Amino acid sequence: MKLTIIGTGYVGLVTGTCFAEVGHQVVCVDRDEAKVKLLQAGGMPIYEPGLDELVKKNVAAGRLTFTASTKEGVEKSDVIFIAVPTPPQEDGSVDLSFIEGVARDIAAAMTSYKIIVDKSTVPVKTGDKVSETIKRYCKAKVEFDVASNPEFLREGFAVDDLMHPDRIVVGVKTQRPVQAMKEIYAPFNAPIIITDINSAELIKHAANSFLALKISYINAISVICEATGANVQEVANGMGMDARIGRRFLDASLGFGGSCFPKDLSAFIKISEQLGYDFGLLKEVQRINAEQMTRFFKKIVETLWVLKDKRIGVLGLAFKQNTDDIRLSPAIELCQRLQKEGAVLRVHDPKAMEKAKAVLKNVTYVEDMNEVAEGCDAMVIATEWPQFKNLDLERVRKTLTHPILFDGRNLFDVREMEELGFIYKSIGR
Ligand code: UDX
Repeated sequence: MKLTIIGTGYVGLVTGTCFAEVGHQVVCVDRDEAKVKLLQAGGMPIYEPGLDELVKKNVAAGRLTFTASTKEGVEKSDVIFIAVPTPPQEDGSVDLSFIEGVARDIAAAMTSYKIIVDKSTVPVKTGDKVSETIKRYCKAKVEFDVASNPEFLREGFAVDDLMHPDRIVVGVKTQRPVQAMKEIYAPFNAPIIITDINSAELIKHAANSFLALKISYINAISVICEATGANVQEVANGMGMDARIGRRFLDASLGFGGSCFPKDLSAFIKISEQLGYDFGLLKEVQRINAEQMTRFFKKIVETLWVLKDKRIGVLGLAFKQNTDDIRLSPAIELCQRLQKEGAVLRVHDPKAMEKAKAVLKNVTYVEDMNEVAEGCDAMVIATEWPQFKNLDLERVRKTLTHPILFDGRNLFDVREMEELGFIYKSIGR
């Protein structure tokens, strides 16, 4: 099928590329001409495992093209996906101006029947607004349908999540776009849930808020574990074997971050408020998340006492493993807190150092993870990169002035670390 994706961020670029990979003819549109040129020249604006090769392969096969012209994108396809940012505003509500702008641009370019599919995470009832906007701005008065098709991909696993989804959610108002949506997704071999637009939009916010709740829940349990000498990983394993609960997203940490959970939680709380419901449960999820960072920071202060001029090595800057994304990264927040107290930092991240340089100044960026500890009074693990598990612990212990390791991601076994001679402080153990 001929498909157009507007917006080449994480969601848009990966979606477009995976659609091309399964055989569709895809045009990716972005108003950022520099980004379009970069993509046309074979460059990559983001780091996402496996994406680079997949883009190159599909460009070479002639199935994937890039343009800065929405008009061209609209003319070339019958189905147009919107995948533009929906950033948070100061009060936590969602800024829908990019969605509105794109809806107007699509309307202005439409000369025949189109299906306009929203992939961005939006408040419930946005589909109605997009519909009204298109009707208002479409001079040609052609027929169209609006659909909602929320994306559930995780950064760092985006290609895999997209190619092997648990389910596809499609919200529609009429039956007319259903066949096309089914055809688009047929190659992905996943169950397709056809529902109304409001429910589809809600599924996304409800799912993300629930996952954030799961993390805050285990983080709250980690506090109880610390107070009693229990081990949060053992508790999570035991809970997770109950199929009704599941083990995933039960890893205690110094808190969740990124461009989705914090934003989606605030948005959902705000949406509920506007609908007359005080979603106190989700406010508590936010509170526990913020507190988790503070508790971890306090642990460092209690151990090292005065932080001024203390040299601290930090492993991990990205908000999680497998990404160069540092948006609302707990690791960056921790670094900034340490710096505020006068600590001197040596930092490393396998992929996020370039992006971190824009926000984290006056630190030493270290290329080799095993060299971060050199001359430091303590070391911190702030991101769950799997390669940190292969740290040369013997070398780290020897090169630290004091063998103190704070692990915000519970990467190592407590007893083994103590046997190796570390003063090892992790979460909920
Ligand atoms: C999330 C959702 O998983 C995805 O479905 C949605 O489309 C976008 O939001 P993403 O933000 O890419 O994806 O990352 P995710 O892997 O969900 O992790 C979010 C944060 O939670 C990270 O900071 C991560 O480190 C943290 N986390 C995750 C934990 O602290 N503990 C866990 O058990 C899992």
